[in-house]
Amino acid sequence: MNIIITGASSGIGFELAKRFAEMGNHNILALSRNASKLKDLKSACIRKNVEAHLHPIPFDLSAKEPFEDTLIPIIKQYVQNIDIVINNAGHLVNAPFHNLSSIEIATMIDVNFTGPAKLIKALMPILNAKAHVVNISSMGGFQGSVKFPGLSVYSATKAAIACLTECLAEEYKDIDISFNCLALGSVQTEMLAKAFPNYKAPVMPNEMANFIANFALNGSKYFNGQVIPVSLSTP
Ligand SMILES: NC(=O)c1ccc[n+]([C@@H]2O[C@H](COP(=O)([O-])OP(=O)(O)OC[C@H]3O[C@@H](n4cnc5c(N)ncnc54)[C@H](OP(=O)(O)O)[C@@H]3O)[C@@H](O)[C@H]2O)c1
Repeated sequence: MNIIITGASSGIGFELAKRFAEMGNHNILALSRNASKLKDLKSACIRKNVEAHLHPIPFDLSAKEPFEDTLIPIIKQYVQNIDIVINNAGHLVNAPFHNLSSIEIATMIDVNFTGPAKLIKALMPILNAKAHVVNISSMGGFQGSVKFPGLSVYSATKAAIACLTECLAEEYKDIDISFNCLALGSVQTEMLAKAFPNYKAPVMPNEMANFIANFALNGSKYFNGQVIPVSLSTP
């Protein structure tokens, strides 16, 4: 399988890339801004499986240029088509709504919503039949869930990517591409420490990564256009 994972330099995305690497001969395209952390990821994947094919792609999802011009040519250096897209990158600023700067708001919207939307759009021409797009949202953006002060815009961007998932599944239901969204509960990562300092999550990044990898590979047989809560705890 040819698999794109965004936000692969840390947390859940880092563990996801390692999980796919140890599974076998997938081509894994690992995106984030930090080239040095992606290099570390490549070494970690090779330690798991000497035959792992992991291609680091340093890329800023908040870049303004069309991804068709900037990112797709890089992707095509490695693969000509894609089977799985995991929009995992995320940006969170924990601050009272009235204190958020315009740049902080714009960056959360860019990384959590606009970037994934632009990525899906740019990839559409090279998505294989039966491709599965998995968007990573949060319980904070799940309708009716408990809400927390300081996470208003972050949660709203996560609700937006969930809604986009439902819309794309409907719009493309006749061309055999599936779109699903996982609304994650708390996982012990750097982002969680920003959102809930001192809170200890019940789930580790490798555990959530195992779930997401299995879902990305098998979930489209049973789900399309679904926003699925993946949480036993609050937060
Ligand atoms: N951890 C939780 O409790 C939790 C709960 C619910 C949902 N989630 C969601 O799960 C996903 C993964 O979160 P995590 O906890 O693993 O977070 P993390 O450890 O903070 O990782 C975030 C990733 O996003 C990448 N990223 C941020 N800005 C980017 C940009 N402009 N361009 C490209 N990549 C960018 C970062 O890479 P660079 O800095 O190298 O660019 C990093 O790899 C996120 O979508 C998050 O919202 C997490």
